[in-house]
Amino acid sequence: MRKQIAAANWKMNLTVSQGAALLDDILKAGLSLSDHQQAIFAVPFPYLSMAQSKLAHSGRFAVAAQNCSNKKSGAFTGEVSAEMLHSMEIGYCVIGHSERREYFAESNQVLAEKLDLCLENQITPIFCCGEPLQIREAGIQNSYVETQLRESLFHLSQDQLEKIVIAYEPIWAIGTGRTASTQQAQEMHAHLRAVLAGHYGDLVAGRISILYGGSVKASNAAELFQSPDVDGGLVGGASLNAPEFIRIIASLK
Ligand code: PGA
Repeated sequence: MRKQIAAANWKMNLTVSQGAALLDDILKAGLSLSDHQQAIFAVPFPYLSMAQSKLAHSGRFAVAAQNCSNKKSGAFTGEVSAEMLHSMEIGYCVIGHSERREYFAESNQVLAEKLDLCLENQITPIFCCGEPLQIREAGIQNSYVETQLRESLFHLSQDQLEKIVIAYEPIWAIGTGRTASTQQAQEMHAHLRAVLAGHYGDLVAGRISILYGGSVKASNAAELFQSPDVDGGLVGGASLNAPEFIRIIASLK
C-alpha cells in the first residue's frame, strides 16, 4: 500500500513552548501507526530541533521544514538551504505551498529548483499544487493543476519522482472552512495520478502518495481519506489542536 500521511502545517503559528506542549499532548495519545502510515510535523525553522528531539523516539513521526531556498548556498540573508536541513537530518520539506506561491511569488520554475535541491539532499519534498477559486469556477482546474505538475516535476527522473509526496490543496478551501467535497478531492487526485501515469507510467504513478489539504478537520478526515486516491492530508488550522490532529492521524487508511 502507498504511504498514508497526516502532515501538520503549523505555518507561522505558536510560540516554541506552545509548540512543545502541542507535541507532548499528541505523543501522550500513544497512537500506534502501522508500517504504511506516517505523521509529519512541518514546523517553523527555529523549532526544528525542538520538534526533532521530542519526536526522536516516537516511531512513525517525522519533522518537516515548511520551505527551503532555491539557491544552494551563499549571500542570501534570511534564507535556509536544503543542505542545512539535511545537515540537521530533516527528512521532509513542504515545497510550493500556495501561500509561498502567492505572497512570495514562487513560480513553477523556482519550485522545480527547490525540488532538485531537496532531492540532492535526501529530503522528501511535499510538493503542493492547487487552483484558486476563479479557476475552479471557470471549470479549468484540471489543466491548471496539470501545468503546475508539468512545469515543476516533469524534469525529474522516474526514481526522483518516486521520492516525492504531492499535496493537492485547492486555494479556495485553505483556511476557509470550505472543504472540497470527497468527490471533488477524489476526482482531482485521480486526475493528478493520471497525469503522472501519462508521463511516468501507471506503476510509478500508483506509488506516489497524494495528500489532500484545505480545511481538513477531525470531522471530515475519515471520509476524505477513504477515497481510493486520497492518501492522507496536509492540515493547517486543525493541526494546532491536539485532540483534532490526533483524530486526523487516527483517520488514516
Ligand atoms: P487549513 O490549511 O487546513 O487551515 O485549511 C491547509 C494548508 O494550508 O496546508
